[in-house]
Amino acid sequence: MLSPEQLQRWQQDGFLVLPGFKPADEVARLRERAIALAQAFEPTPDTGVFSTTQPRKLADAALIASADQVHGFFEEEAFDAAGRLRQAHARSLNKIGHALHDRDPVFSAFSRDPRLAELARDLGVARARLWQSMLIFKPPAIGGEVRWHQDATYLITEPQSVLGLWFALEDATRDNGCLWLQPGGHRGPLRERFGRGPEGLVLERLDDTPWPTLEQSVCAEVEAGALVVFHGLTPHCSAANRSPHSRMAYTLHIADASSAWSDLNWLQRPAGFPARGFD
Ligand code: FE2
Repeated sequence: MLSPEQLQRWQQDGFLVLPGFKPADEVARLRERAIALAQAFEPTPDTGVFSTTQPRKLADAALIASADQVHGFFEEEAFDAAGRLRQAHARSLNKIGHALHDRDPVFSAFSRDPRLAELARDLGVARARLWQSMLIFKPPAIGGEVRWHQDATYLITEPQSVLGLWFALEDATRDNGCLWLQPGGHRGPLRERFGRGPEGLVLERLDDTPWPTLEQSVCAEVEAGALVVFHGLTPHCSAANRSPHSRMAYTLHIADASSAWSDLNWLQRPAGFPARGFD
């Protein structure tokens, strides 16, 4: 799947941008399915608003329950003072997750693409397990910022083997909040760990290495259909979307079956519903 040059770039940068990875019809089908799922999702008082800038506000119970379900998380600015949605669901949701790839046939087909299995093998994940999927809406005007982080913070394996697969379902630009990634940042330490503690989910600081500046980073402006694949330790972020254009993306996180899935992870699969591979 990958050329020697791409593999070298992967070693060096800790991420790869693959333009046009998914054909337009597949991308359109996933987008339509996402909007249908969004419309069907009804907010309730315990639905949970997703915010990475204020981790304490994460609704622990809603997050934990979403591990094996299709659950919606709204943007902080989606509701008016009376608690009503200001706009249609697809323009109010931050994301839906985290088992789309196992619960929904359209998402399963998109995720279980033999070319992804090949790509994962090329990048050292020989026996992939598909742990987490998210449809990120990044709606116009209110799409929230995602601060600098490493995905291995939220998905803990021993040893670290998590890979993130990020598919642009719409064009991603500086204006609507494209990804920023730090080249070579995967060789740095894991700075934080988010997991189960005695009093609930906690974000723990492990290392004081500062986050990169935008000047030290690459702005991944890509067209719909592109795949950005990145190492679990690669620092990345995205700005708020204050533009009139949404920036939908689908992310899939995989890890190798030979590395242990930590009991500390917020995401645990119940007995009888294990994380499966690409087959
Ligand atoms: Fe991430």
